[in-house]
Amino acid sequence: MLEHLKTQPADKILMLMQSYREDPRTTKIDLGVGVYKDPTGLTPVMRAVKAAEKKIWESQDSKSYVGLAGDPAYLDAMVGLVLNKTVAREQVAAVATPGGTGAIRQALELIKLAAPEATVWLSAPTWPNHPSIIKYLGMKMTEYRYFDEATRGVDFDGMLADLQGLKSGDVVLLHGCCHNPTGANLTAAQWQEVIALLKAKGAVPLVDIAYQGFGDGLEADAAATRAVVAGMDECLIAASCSKNFGIYRERTGILMAVARDTAEAKLAQANLAFLNRQNYSFPPDHGARIVSTILNDAVLRADWEAELEEIRNTMLGLRKQLADELRRLSNSDRFDFVASHRGMFSRIGTTPEKVEQMRVDNGIYMVSDSRMNIAGLNNQTVPILAKAIIDAGI
Ligand code: LMR
Repeated sequence: MLEHLKTQPADKILMLMQSYREDPRTTKIDLGVGVYKDPTGLTPVMRAVKAAEKKIWESQDSKSYVGLAGDPAYLDAMVGLVLNKTVAREQVAAVATPGGTGAIRQALELIKLAAPEATVWLSAPTWPNHPSIIKYLGMKMTEYRYFDEATRGVDFDGMLADLQGLKSGDVVLLHGCCHNPTGANLTAAQWQEVIALLKAKGAVPLVDIAYQGFGDGLEADAAATRAVVAGMDECLIAASCSKNFGIYRERTGILMAVARDTAEAKLAQANLAFLNRQNYSFPPDHGARIVSTILNDAVLRADWEAELEEIRNTMLGLRKQLADELRRLSNSDRFDFVASHRGMFSRIGTTPEKVEQMRVDNGIYMVSDSRMNIAGLNNQTVPILAKAIIDAGI
């Protein structure tokens, strides 16, 4: 049987992780996978996470199953963190998932159950695993313009023009904040235009929010998602705790389905629990319990928020330093977009050949589409990257 398997396409982000590991150069710089690193290159366990784990260890007296949807305390805490009080809790169906990817996967499976003919619209570009999972599930997909290669901002006119082609019931995948891979984001006014268009077309938004707290702050980063929920009848939201709680390997995510009323929310809830059962039965609990322990303890929550702000400000500082250095070296303002992009990533906007050249010549690892993880830099490596960018003729 196994001999009939075909070789599957490799994920370019994971491939890059592997080749970085294998590079013996001590001067190499990892700007690949979206993982936060402090200035010493470590991905720390956040203080509040350590404290929550201790609290759990001391008080937990069973590892028995929780529930198909996950721990209700986690679900409530996360609905609160992402949506605050935008909508009544009874209108939100929610399940814990293995990471944000698990939430995306369950969202797509829910769409398949409810509207198998729907086309899923993706920003061009988007996180490569989005189209990969959609293709794997055999669903229809298409793209809308998003990134303006010239300005490295959002091609908003192109986006609106393409979304004019939406059919009623189509699904539009939107990045709630910190667009991955570009770092270019819609303004609040642009979000309102997109919401009005989706509503007029009868489309359903699927918001992927994986970096809440990494852009403009926890509340500001949730504003667009909340605006979508407030402005639409129905909405799916896939959220991740991997980055903002730094619990990548614990696989902690949540899928929320905001329904028009309580009865539809109950139906969605039952379907989400069914999907969990079919795919992996009970979702992982440890990361979810860390999150609810932090969010429901005023002291831990304040410390988590403070550390998240430190992380966010470190990345903003690196953005500014890099933009300044590139301004100095290029004697132009053409790289100022680096300072206005938000989140972990910026797409520098060059060819895969030049990205490869920087890897070979300077040991700088960024994704072939020229996405760089700002958090992979520190004050010492920023000038090295800036020089490499200019030397490569970007
Ligand atoms: C990324 O975009 O680098 C992260 O979301 C990690 C991943 O799984 O690809």
